[in-house]
Amino acid sequence: MNIGVIGLGKLGCSMFAAFAAAGNKVFGFDIDKNVRNYLRKKIAPVSETGLQDEINLGFENFKILDNTSRVIEESDVIYVIVPTPSLKDGTFDTKYLENVILNIRDVNSCCENKLIVITSTVLPGDTRLKLISKIRIKNEKISKIKFCYSPEFIALGSVLNDLKNPDFLLVGEDIPHSADIHIEAMMTLINNKNIPIRRMSIESAEMAKISINSYITSKISFANAIGIASENIDNCSAKDVLSAIGSDSRIGKKYLNKGLGFGGPCFPRDNRAIQQVINRAEGLEYYLPIQNEIFNSKLPDYYVKKIIQFCNNKNLDNVLVVGLTYKDGSYLLEESQSYSISLKLSKNYKVFYFDPDVSNKKDLGLEEFNLNSKVIGDIFLLNFSRDQIKLKIVKKIIKEKNLNYFYLDIWE
Ligand SMILES: NC(=O)c1ccc[n+]([C@@H]2O[C@H](COP(=O)([O-])OP(=O)(O)OC[C@H]3O[C@@H](n4cnc5c(N)ncnc54)[C@H](O)[C@@H]3O)[C@@H](O)[C@H]2O)c1
Repeated sequence: MNIGVIGLGKLGCSMFAAFAAAGNKVFGFDIDKNVRNYLRKKIAPVSETGLQDEINLGFENFKILDNTSRVIEESDVIYVIVPTPSLKDGTFDTKYLENVILNIRDVNSCCENKLIVITSTVLPGDTRLKLISKIRIKNEKISKIKFCYSPEFIALGSVLNDLKNPDFLLVGEDIPHSADIHIEAMMTLINNKNIPIRRMSIESAEMAKISINSYITSKISFANAIGIASENIDNCSAKDVLSAIGSDSRIGKKYLNKGLGFGGPCFPRDNRAIQQVINRAEGLEYYLPIQNEIFNSKLPDYYVKKIIQFCNNKNLDNVLVVGLTYKDGSYLLEESQSYSISLKLSKNYKVFYFDPDVSNKKDLGLEEFNLNSKVIGDIFLLNFSRDQIKLKIVKKIIKEKNLNYFYLDIWE
Protein backbone atom coordinates (compact mmCIF):
# COMPACT_ATOMS: atom_id res chain seq x y z
CA MET A 1 0.00 0.00 0.00
CA ASN A 2 1.27 3.50 -0.82
CA ILE A 3 0.80 6.02 1.96
CA GLY A 4 1.06 9.82 1.74
CA VAL A 5 1.70 12.21 4.61
CA ILE A 6 1.19 15.96 4.21
CA GLY A 7 2.59 18.02 7.08
CA LEU A 8 5.72 16.49 8.60
CA GLY A 9 5.79 18.29 11.97
CA LYS A 10 5.70 17.01 15.53
CA LEU A 11 2.99 14.44 14.84
CA GLY A 12 3.20 14.04 11.04
CA CYS A 13 6.92 13.25 10.90
CA SER A 14 6.58 10.40 13.41
CA MET A 15 3.65 8.93 11.46
CA PHE A 16 5.60 9.29 8.22
CA ALA A 17 8.69 7.55 9.64
CA ALA A 18 6.67 4.84 11.40
CA PHE A 19 4.75 3.93 8.23
CA ALA A 20 8.04 3.67 6.32
CA ALA A 21 9.77 1.67 9.07
CA ALA A 22 6.80 -0.74 9.02
CA GLY A 23 7.58 -1.52 5.37
CA ASN A 24 5.04 0.68 3.57
CA LYS A 25 5.97 2.83 0.61
CA VAL A 26 5.53 6.36 1.93
CA PHE A 27 5.45 9.75 0.19
CA GLY A 28 5.73 12.96 2.17
CA PHE A 29 5.47 16.69 1.70
CA ASP A 30 5.92 19.61 4.06
CA ILE A 31 5.59 23.21 2.99
CA ASP A 32 8.77 24.00 4.93
CA LYS A 33 11.78 23.42 2.67
CA ASN A 34 14.08 22.80 5.66
CA VAL A 35 11.89 19.92 6.79
CA ARG A 36 12.02 18.39 3.30
CA ASN A 37 15.80 18.83 3.11
CA TYR A 38 16.41 17.30 6.52
CA LEU A 39 14.37 14.23 5.69
CA ARG A 40 16.05 13.82 2.30
CA LYS A 41 19.33 13.76 4.23
CA LYS A 42 17.91 11.16 6.66
CA ILE A 43 17.84 13.64 9.57
CA ALA A 44 14.86 14.04 11.93
CA PRO A 45 13.52 17.60 11.47
CA VAL A 46 11.89 17.61 14.93
CA SER A 47 13.03 16.24 18.26
CA GLU A 48 10.99 13.21 19.33
CA THR A 49 11.86 10.03 21.23
CA GLY A 50 13.05 7.30 18.83
CA LEU A 51 12.31 9.34 15.69
CA GLN A 52 15.85 9.32 14.30
CA ASP A 53 16.02 5.50 14.66
CA GLU A 54 12.65 5.15 12.93
CA ILE A 55 13.88 7.36 10.06
CA ASN A 56 17.05 5.28 9.72
CA LEU A 57 14.92 2.15 9.61
CA GLY A 58 12.43 3.45 7.05
CA PHE A 59 14.71 5.57 4.87
CA GLU A 60 14.71 3.15 1.90
CA ASN A 61 10.90 3.15 1.90
CA PHE A 62 10.15 6.85 1.90
CA LYS A 63 10.37 9.63 -0.62
CA ILE A 64 9.98 13.36 -0.07
CA LEU A 65 8.08 15.05 -2.89
CA ASP A 66 7.80 18.72 -3.78
CA ASN A 67 4.07 19.34 -3.55
CA THR A 68 0.76 18.05 -2.21
CA SER A 69 -0.65 16.94 -5.55
CA ARG A 70 2.35 14.68 -6.27
CA VAL A 71 1.84 12.99 -2.87
CA ILE A 72 -1.83 12.40 -3.67
CA GLU A 73 -1.04 11.07 -7.13
CA GLU A 74 1.43 8.51 -5.69
CA SER A 75 -0.63 7.38 -2.66
CA ASP A 76 -3.73 5.30 -1.90
CA VAL A 77 -4.31 6.80 1.55
CA ILE A 78 -3.16 10.33 2.40
CA TYR A 79 -2.80 11.69 5.96
CA VAL A 80 -3.12 15.46 6.38
CA ILE A 81 -1.46 16.65 9.60
CA VAL A 82 -0.99 20.40 9.27
CA PRO A 83 -1.49 22.96 12.07
CA THR A 84 -4.95 24.08 13.17
CA PRO A 85 -4.00 26.92 15.54
CA SER A 86 -6.46 28.03 18.20
CA LEU A 87 -8.29 31.27 17.54
CA LYS A 88 -9.02 33.79 20.31
CA ASP A 89 -12.53 32.42 20.83
CA GLY A 90 -11.20 28.86 21.36
CA THR A 91 -12.18 27.50 17.93
CA PHE A 92 -9.58 26.22 15.45
CA ASP A 93 -8.23 27.97 12.37
CA THR A 94 -8.59 25.61 9.41
CA LYS A 95 -6.77 27.76 6.84
CA TYR A 96 -3.75 25.40 6.57
CA LEU A 97 -6.08 22.44 5.99
CA GLU A 98 -8.06 24.42 3.42
CA ASN A 99 -4.84 25.25 1.56
CA VAL A 100 -3.96 21.57 1.36
CA ILE A 101 -7.43 20.72 0.08
CA LEU A 102 -7.26 23.43 -2.58
CA ASN A 103 -4.10 21.79 -3.92
CA ILE A 104 -6.03 18.57 -4.56
CA ARG A 105 -7.49 20.36 -7.57
CA ASP A 106 -4.10 20.07 -9.29
CA VAL A 107 -4.00 16.29 -9.02
CA ASN A 108 -3.56 14.61 -12.40
CA SER A 109 -4.78 11.11 -11.67
CA CYS A 110 -8.04 9.36 -10.92
CA CYS A 111 -8.99 9.86 -7.28
CA GLU A 112 -11.94 7.47 -7.03
CA ASN A 113 -10.12 4.94 -4.83
CA LYS A 114 -8.07 7.37 -2.82
CA LEU A 115 -8.78 8.31 0.78
CA ILE A 116 -7.83 11.55 2.54
CA VAL A 117 -7.49 11.15 6.31
CA ILE A 118 -7.76 14.39 8.25
CA THR A 119 -5.64 13.88 11.38
CA SER A 120 -5.36 17.54 12.45
CA THR A 121 -7.67 18.53 15.29
CA VAL A 122 -10.83 20.29 14.08
CA LEU A 123 -14.24 21.25 15.46
CA PRO A 124 -17.33 19.12 14.75
CA GLY A 125 -18.52 20.03 11.27
CA ASP A 126 -15.22 21.48 10.02
CA THR A 127 -14.16 18.51 7.88
CA ARG A 128 -17.46 18.37 6.00
CA LEU A 129 -18.27 22.07 5.80
CA LYS A 130 -14.81 23.55 5.24
CA LEU A 131 -12.92 20.76 3.47
CA ILE A 132 -15.10 18.15 1.77
CA SER A 133 -17.43 20.85 0.43
CA LYS A 134 -14.50 22.35 -1.49
CA ILE A 135 -13.90 19.06 -3.32
CA ARG A 136 -17.42 17.86 -4.10
CA ILE A 137 -17.53 20.00 -7.19
CA LYS A 138 -18.11 19.12 -10.80
CA ASN A 139 -14.51 18.22 -11.70
CA GLU A 140 -14.90 14.43 -12.13
CA LYS A 141 -11.25 13.62 -11.52
CA ILE A 142 -11.08 14.75 -7.94
CA SER A 143 -14.67 14.99 -6.72
CA LYS A 144 -14.87 11.29 -5.86
CA ILE A 145 -11.92 11.28 -3.49
CA LYS A 146 -13.06 9.87 -0.13
CA PHE A 147 -12.59 11.50 3.27
CA CYS A 148 -12.30 10.35 6.83
CA TYR A 149 -11.45 12.08 10.11
CA SER A 150 -9.18 10.08 12.38
CA PRO A 151 -7.17 11.82 15.09
CA GLU A 152 -4.32 10.28 17.06
CA PHE A 153 -4.19 10.27 20.85
CA ILE A 154 -0.51 10.85 21.37
CA ALA A 155 1.63 12.81 23.78
CA LEU A 156 4.81 14.56 22.70
CA GLY A 157 7.85 12.66 23.90
CA SER A 158 6.09 9.33 23.40
CA VAL A 159 4.51 9.86 19.97
CA LEU A 160 5.89 6.70 18.34
CA ASN A 161 5.03 4.52 21.31
CA ASP A 162 1.52 6.00 21.51
CA LEU A 163 0.95 5.56 17.76
CA LYS A 164 1.84 1.87 18.04
CA ASN A 165 -0.08 1.23 21.26
CA PRO A 166 -3.36 3.14 21.13
CA ASP A 167 -6.32 2.23 23.37
CA PHE A 168 -8.55 2.30 20.30
CA LEU A 169 -8.84 3.75 16.80
CA LEU A 170 -11.29 6.60 16.35
CA VAL A 171 -12.53 6.67 12.75
CA GLY A 172 -15.06 9.11 11.33
CA GLU A 173 -16.28 8.06 7.89
CA ASP A 174 -17.96 9.96 5.11
CA ILE A 175 -19.37 6.77 3.57
CA PRO A 176 -19.55 3.46 5.54
CA HIS A 177 -16.34 1.41 5.11
CA SER A 178 -14.63 4.13 3.12
CA ALA A 179 -11.90 4.20 5.79
CA ASP A 180 -11.00 0.50 5.49
CA ILE A 181 -7.72 1.37 3.80
CA HIS A 182 -6.81 3.78 6.64
CA ILE A 183 -7.44 1.05 9.22
CA GLU A 184 -5.31 -1.32 7.13
CA ALA A 185 -2.50 1.28 7.06
CA MET A 186 -2.70 1.87 10.81
CA MET A 187 -2.61 -1.87 11.48
CA THR A 188 0.88 -1.95 9.95
CA LEU A 189 1.94 0.19 12.95
CA ILE A 190 -0.23 -1.08 15.79
CA ASN A 191 1.11 -3.83 18.04
CA ASN A 192 -2.24 -5.12 19.32
CA LYS A 193 -4.20 -5.94 16.19
CA ASN A 194 -7.33 -6.61 18.30
CA ILE A 195 -7.77 -3.06 19.56
CA PRO A 196 -11.31 -1.69 19.39
CA ILE A 197 -12.12 0.36 16.29
CA ARG A 198 -14.77 2.98 16.88
CA ARG A 199 -16.32 3.79 13.50
CA MET A 200 -18.81 6.61 13.29
CA SER A 201 -19.75 9.72 11.33
CA ILE A 202 -17.05 12.31 10.73
CA GLU A 203 -18.82 14.77 13.05
CA SER A 204 -19.07 12.20 15.88
CA ALA A 205 -15.35 11.49 15.65
CA GLU A 206 -14.53 15.21 15.62
CA MET A 207 -16.69 15.66 18.73
CA ALA A 208 -15.24 12.59 20.48
CA LYS A 209 -11.62 13.72 20.02
CA ILE A 210 -11.89 17.07 21.80
CA SER A 211 -14.35 15.65 24.36
CA ILE A 212 -11.86 12.97 25.42
CA ASN A 213 -9.08 15.51 25.92
CA SER A 214 -11.41 17.84 27.81
CA TYR A 215 -12.55 14.98 30.08
CA ILE A 216 -8.91 14.22 30.95
CA THR A 217 -8.26 17.86 31.82
CA SER A 218 -11.29 17.80 34.16
CA LYS A 219 -9.90 14.69 35.80
CA ILE A 220 -6.51 16.38 36.32
CA SER A 221 -8.14 19.43 37.91
CA PHE A 222 -10.41 17.27 40.08
CA ALA A 223 -7.38 15.32 41.32
CA ASN A 224 -5.53 18.55 42.10
CA ALA A 225 -8.49 20.06 43.93
CA ILE A 226 -9.16 16.92 45.98
CA GLY A 227 -5.44 16.45 46.61
CA ILE A 228 -4.92 20.00 47.86
CA ALA A 229 -8.10 19.91 49.96
CA SER A 230 -6.99 16.59 51.50
CA GLU A 231 -3.64 18.05 52.52
CA ASN A 232 -5.50 20.79 54.30
CA ILE A 233 -7.11 18.25 56.64
CA ASP A 234 -5.18 16.90 59.62
CA ASN A 235 -4.12 13.25 59.20
CA CYS A 236 -5.43 13.14 55.65
CA SER A 237 -3.13 12.04 52.81
CA ALA A 238 -3.78 13.24 49.25
CA LYS A 239 -1.97 10.20 47.91
CA ASP A 240 -4.12 7.75 49.86
CA VAL A 241 -7.37 9.54 48.98
CA LEU A 242 -6.58 9.69 45.25
CA SER A 243 -5.33 6.13 45.21
CA ALA A 244 -8.64 5.00 46.75
CA ILE A 245 -10.67 7.03 44.25
CA GLY A 246 -8.65 5.63 41.35
CA SER A 247 -9.22 2.05 42.52
CA ASP A 248 -12.88 2.40 41.60
CA SER A 249 -13.06 0.92 38.11
CA ARG A 250 -15.62 3.55 37.11
CA ILE A 251 -12.91 6.16 37.60
CA GLY A 252 -9.47 4.59 37.07
CA LYS A 253 -6.01 5.68 38.20
CA LYS A 254 -4.69 7.45 35.12
CA TYR A 255 -4.24 11.23 35.39
CA LEU A 256 -5.43 11.09 39.01
CA ASN A 257 -2.47 12.62 40.84
CA LYS A 258 -1.96 15.80 42.77
CA GLY A 259 0.74 17.85 41.10
CA LEU A 260 1.07 20.18 38.17
CA GLY A 261 -1.96 21.12 36.14
CA PHE A 262 -2.40 20.33 32.48
CA GLY A 263 -0.43 22.16 29.79
CA GLY A 264 1.20 21.73 26.41
CA PRO A 265 -0.15 22.16 22.90
CA CYS A 266 -3.25 19.86 23.06
CA PHE A 267 -5.14 19.60 26.37
CA PRO A 268 -5.72 23.31 27.08
CA ARG A 269 -6.85 24.13 23.56
CA ASP A 270 -9.12 21.09 23.14
CA ASN A 271 -10.72 21.96 26.48
CA ARG A 272 -11.31 25.54 25.32
CA ALA A 273 -12.76 24.29 22.04
CA ILE A 274 -15.29 21.94 23.66
CA GLN A 275 -16.67 24.85 25.71
CA GLN A 276 -17.36 26.67 22.43
CA VAL A 277 -19.12 23.62 21.02
CA ILE A 278 -21.21 23.23 24.21
CA ASN A 279 -22.14 26.92 24.10
CA ARG A 280 -23.67 26.40 20.66
CA ALA A 281 -26.29 23.98 22.02
CA GLU A 282 -29.33 26.12 22.67
CA GLY A 283 -30.63 25.94 26.24
CA LEU A 284 -27.60 23.99 27.50
CA GLU A 285 -25.76 25.61 30.38
CA TYR A 286 -22.60 23.67 31.21
CA TYR A 287 -19.45 25.58 32.10
CA LEU A 288 -17.15 22.90 33.49
CA PRO A 289 -14.49 23.27 30.73
CA ILE A 290 -14.07 27.00 31.30
CA GLN A 291 -14.17 26.64 35.11
CA ASN A 292 -11.61 23.90 34.78
CA GLU A 293 -9.35 26.20 32.75
CA ILE A 294 -9.68 28.97 35.34
CA PHE A 295 -8.79 26.59 38.18
CA ASN A 296 -5.86 25.18 36.21
CA SER A 297 -4.48 28.61 35.35
CA LYS A 298 -4.46 29.60 39.05
CA LEU A 299 -2.64 26.46 40.21
CA PRO A 300 0.89 27.86 39.60
CA ASP A 301 0.06 30.83 41.90
CA TYR A 302 -1.07 28.43 44.62
CA TYR A 303 2.24 26.57 44.49
CA VAL A 304 4.29 29.78 44.24
CA LYS A 305 2.68 31.04 47.46
CA LYS A 306 3.49 27.79 49.29
CA ILE A 307 7.09 27.77 48.01
CA ILE A 308 7.64 31.40 49.03
CA GLN A 309 6.33 30.62 52.53
CA PHE A 310 8.75 27.71 52.81
CA CYS A 311 11.75 29.65 51.44
CA ASN A 312 11.08 32.55 53.80
CA ASN A 313 10.83 30.23 56.81
CA LYS A 314 14.15 28.61 55.97
CA ASN A 315 15.86 31.79 54.74
CA LEU A 316 16.53 30.34 51.31
CA ASP A 317 17.60 32.46 48.35
CA ASN A 318 18.10 29.72 45.76
CA VAL A 319 15.52 27.56 44.03
CA LEU A 320 16.55 24.71 41.75
CA VAL A 321 13.83 23.40 39.47
CA VAL A 322 14.05 19.95 37.89
CA GLY A 323 11.85 19.62 34.79
CA LEU A 324 10.89 22.76 32.92
CA THR A 325 9.11 21.60 29.76
CA TYR A 326 5.38 20.90 29.93
CA LYS A 327 6.14 17.19 30.04
CA ASP A 328 9.21 14.95 30.28
CA GLY A 329 10.43 13.94 26.83
CA SER A 330 9.05 17.05 25.12
CA TYR A 331 11.08 20.18 24.42
CA LEU A 332 7.98 22.42 24.50
CA LEU A 333 7.52 25.11 27.13
CA GLU A 334 4.05 25.98 25.78
CA GLU A 335 1.61 26.31 28.71
CA SER A 336 4.17 24.57 30.95
CA GLN A 337 3.17 25.00 34.59
CA SER A 338 6.68 24.27 35.88
CA TYR A 339 8.08 27.03 33.66
CA SER A 340 5.34 29.42 34.78
CA ILE A 341 6.07 28.65 38.46
CA SER A 342 9.82 29.08 37.88
CA LEU A 343 9.39 32.46 36.22
CA LYS A 344 7.13 33.69 39.02
CA LEU A 345 9.67 32.52 41.63
CA SER A 346 12.52 34.23 39.77
CA LYS A 347 11.06 37.58 40.86
CA ASN A 348 11.99 36.74 44.48
CA TYR A 349 14.80 34.19 44.22
CA LYS A 350 17.74 33.08 42.17
CA VAL A 351 16.15 30.28 40.16
CA PHE A 352 18.24 27.58 38.46
CA TYR A 353 16.76 24.88 36.26
CA PHE A 354 17.86 21.46 35.14
CA ASP A 355 16.14 19.92 32.14
CA PRO A 356 18.03 18.27 29.25
CA ASP A 357 14.71 18.27 27.31
CA VAL A 358 14.84 22.07 26.88
CA SER A 359 16.16 22.62 23.37
CA ASN A 360 16.44 26.40 23.18
CA LYS A 361 18.21 27.52 26.32
CA LYS A 362 18.48 31.17 25.31
CA ASP A 363 16.21 33.89 26.72
CA LEU A 364 14.53 31.59 29.22
CA GLY A 365 14.97 34.10 32.01
CA LEU A 366 16.50 31.37 34.18
CA GLU A 367 20.00 29.97 34.65
CA GLU A 368 20.84 26.38 33.79
CA PHE A 369 22.22 24.33 36.69
CA ASN A 370 25.50 22.51 36.22
CA LEU A 371 28.82 21.91 37.94
CA ASN A 372 29.91 25.46 37.17
CA SER A 373 26.83 27.18 38.63
CA LYS A 374 27.66 29.77 41.28
CA VAL A 375 25.38 29.01 44.22
CA ILE A 376 25.71 30.86 47.50
CA GLY A 377 23.76 29.31 50.37
CA ASP A 378 21.29 26.44 50.60
CA ILE A 379 18.89 25.37 47.86
CA PHE A 380 15.22 24.57 47.65
CA LEU A 381 15.18 21.65 45.22
CA LEU A 382 11.80 21.49 43.46
CA ASN A 383 11.16 18.36 41.44
CA PHE A 384 8.51 18.88 38.75
CA SER A 385 9.73 15.95 36.67
CA ARG A 386 8.70 12.30 36.79
CA ASP A 387 11.95 11.29 35.15
CA GLN A 388 14.08 9.78 37.92
CA ILE A 389 17.24 10.12 35.78
CA LYS A 390 16.98 13.92 35.73
CA LEU A 391 16.68 13.98 39.53
CA LYS A 392 19.57 11.54 39.93
CA ILE A 393 21.88 13.74 37.82
CA VAL A 394 20.90 16.86 39.76
CA LYS A 395 21.46 15.19 43.12
CA LYS A 396 24.90 14.04 41.91
CA ILE A 397 25.87 17.60 40.94
CA ILE A 398 24.57 18.94 44.27
CA LYS A 399 26.67 16.36 46.10
CA GLU A 400 29.80 17.18 44.10
CA LYS A 401 29.30 20.87 44.81
CA ASN A 402 28.79 20.09 48.49
CA LEU A 403 25.51 22.01 48.70
CA ASN A 404 22.74 21.63 51.28
CA TYR A 405 19.22 21.35 50.03
CA PHE A 406 15.57 21.08 51.09
CA TYR A 407 13.45 18.93 48.80
CA LEU A 408 9.90 19.00 47.46
CA ASP A 409 8.48 16.62 44.86
CA ILE A 410 5.33 18.19 43.40
CA TRP A 411 3.92 14.73 42.61
CA GLU A 412 4.35 13.37 46.14
N1 LIG B 1 1.54 17.44 18.47
C1 LIG B 1 0.61 16.79 19.16
O1 LIG B 1 0.81 16.35 20.31
C2 LIG B 1 -0.74 16.54 18.54
C3 LIG B 1 -1.57 15.58 19.13
C4 LIG B 1 -2.82 15.36 18.59
C5 LIG B 1 -3.22 16.13 17.52
N2 LIG B 1 -2.42 17.06 16.97
C6 LIG B 1 -2.90 17.86 15.85
O2 LIG B 1 -2.13 17.62 14.68
C7 LIG B 1 -2.04 18.82 13.93
C8 LIG B 1 -0.58 19.10 13.67
O3 LIG B 1 0.09 19.25 14.90
P1 LIG B 1 1.67 19.24 15.01
O4 LIG B 1 1.96 19.36 16.46
O5 LIG B 1 2.25 18.10 14.26
O6 LIG B 1 2.00 20.63 14.26
P2 LIG B 1 3.41 21.14 13.74
O7 LIG B 1 3.28 22.60 13.62
O8 LIG B 1 4.50 20.55 14.55
O9 LIG B 1 3.51 20.51 12.26
C9 LIG B 1 2.72 20.87 11.18
C10 LIG B 1 3.54 20.81 9.91
O10 LIG B 1 2.68 21.11 8.81
C11 LIG B 1 3.44 21.87 7.87
N3 LIG B 1 2.52 22.55 6.96
C12 LIG B 1 1.78 23.67 7.14
N4 LIG B 1 1.04 23.94 6.05
C13 LIG B 1 1.31 22.97 5.15
C14 LIG B 1 0.85 22.70 3.83
N5 LIG B 1 -0.04 23.49 3.23
N6 LIG B 1 1.35 21.63 3.20
C15 LIG B 1 2.26 20.84 3.80
N7 LIG B 1 2.74 21.04 5.04
C16 LIG B 1 2.26 22.09 5.72
C17 LIG B 1 4.28 22.78 8.74
O11 LIG B 1 5.39 23.28 8.01
C18 LIG B 1 4.68 21.85 9.88
O12 LIG B 1 5.91 21.18 9.64
C19 LIG B 1 -2.74 19.89 14.75
O13 LIG B 1 -4.06 20.04 14.30
C20 LIG B 1 -2.74 19.34 16.13
O14 LIG B 1 -3.81 19.81 16.91
C21 LIG B 1 -1.16 17.28 17.44
